[in-house]
Amino acid sequence: PKRSREEFTGRWAFILAAVGSAVGLGNIWRFPYVAYENGGGAFILPYLIALLTAGIPLLFFDYAIGHRFRGAPPLAWRRLHPKAEWIGWVQVLVCLVIGVYYAAIIAWSIMYTWFSVDQRWGEDPEGFFMGEYLRAADDPMPSFDFVGPVLIPMIVVWTLLILLMGFGIRRGVARASMIGMPILVLMFLILVGLSVTLPGAVDGLNTFFTPNWSVLTDPAVWIAAYGQIFFSLSVGFGIMVTYASYLKRRTNLTSSGLVVGFSNSGFEVLAGIGVFSALGFMAQAQGVAVGEVVSGGIGLAFIAFPALISEAPAGAVIGVLFFGSLVVAGFTSMISILEVVVSAVKDKLGLGRWAAVIGVNGVCALVSLFLFGTTSGMSLLDVTDAFVNNIGIVGAALVAVLMVSGVLGRLDMLRRHLNAVSSFKLGEFYKVLVAIVLPIVLSYTLLSWITTTLKEGYGDFPAHFLGIFGWGMMGLVIVLAVGLSLLPWSATSGLNAEESV
Ligand code: PHE
Ligand code: NA
Repeated sequence: PKRSREEFTGRWAFILAAVGSAVGLGNIWRFPYVAYENGGGAFILPYLIALLTAGIPLLFFDYAIGHRFRGAPPLAWRRLHPKAEWIGWVQVLVCLVIGVYYAAIIAWSIMYTWFSVDQRWGEDPEGFFMGEYLRAADDPMPSFDFVGPVLIPMIVVWTLLILLMGFGIRRGVARASMIGMPILVLMFLILVGLSVTLPGAVDGLNTFFTPNWSVLTDPAVWIAAYGQIFFSLSVGFGIMVTYASYLKRRTNLTSSGLVVGFSNSGFEVLAGIGVFSALGFMAQAQGVAVGEVVSGGIGLAFIAFPALISEAPAGAVIGVLFFGSLVVAGFTSMISILEVVVSAVKDKLGLGRWAAVIGVNGVCALVSLFLFGTTSGMSLLDVTDAFVNNIGIVGAALVAVLMVSGVLGRLDMLRRHLNAVSSFKLGEFYKVLVAIVLPIVLSYTLLSWITTTLKEGYGDFPAHFLGIFGWGMMGLVIVLAVGLSLLPWSATSGLNAEESV
């Protein structure tokens, strides 16, 4: 039977889902820290340049592939060229790896929303997080020793994901963002409002915004800016390809992309204001300089923020809003990550939605629970996150642009496709950005991370651990991707049964 592809109800459903994907943990806990470390107020310049010269062009590129070829990455790349299917599978596997550990962070955030009420971490948030809560083992190798308060919320997260995604693009995926994003914006605005009125907030904001222009000559700052943009916009590894494949034929792609790009950045700046106001308060309460309390990532969310919640007036409210925001922001991103895998499997095997969702999410859930619901979850998460972001995402984007603009010479076709359906037209300069600027930036970023990590290792992890779960995992992704691309497409698959392109 001919199955036609699922579709978003309209452009705004798509925009909300794309913003829901882009706005994630990276906005809240990564951007403020990266900006502060790389010149504070002066970071805005490399950041904006990265957004305009790489982030948005790559976003358009992903949209064009997904929309023109109407498929999840493997199908879309296969239709672009029969030998390019493996690139799509690399993107799918990168998403799979991210999805498997992302669920753990959402689960922790759910528990911490609850813990914020009685602030059970007491005087020692770090000891509580690593010890009492995670029971983190010293040995990073998988322990299969489950931690109940991590495992149970993870089961809740996976169950919700299966139910929601099973309902499909309109009634599940798009609806999650339509409900989630307004709630997130509301919670976050109240949170930022509370933060800026804390005593000491002004010092925090001054620390954050004071520009250090001298950093602009440091290549590391530029790498940080481009890295933040790629991660933050969720570009280059299949998410936007997949979402764009669910758009109607006539959809204004480029202007949607501009809305998505600028909303995501707006949310980052807002998070910077909120986080640094809060850090300003912390510093004042402890009688130290703001610079001494700055952190990012897991440390910011699960160690610094709990300390702040205990000390701030209305701390419980701040805590519930902060962790609640992490849950909602993380959840809508998580859906977008898994939808890439679900959609790819559905295309290739010609399955219905429920079958694909139950199969894919079920397998991912098991892997996720066994690896990250245990006492060794934290170390594994740290390493997989670092490798998949710095090699997987950057590498996948690099291969994608090189393939299209260099090997296949189809970049102009994509540009013409974008222009045919969109109101904001792209000139010849677009090709300079994608074919020249992007490969330079991406390969420089990729190579510098690989050489540093080969030389210095990563964190304090032993070499064999990095060998297996870092380098080995990335190698496995490539081998599996090639293998999957060689498997035949089922007779009812997207390639054979759907309307042709
Ligand atoms: N873009 C999201 C953020 O800024 C993170 C994300 C990463 C989303 C990977 C999907 C996939 O947090
Ligand atoms: Na983001």
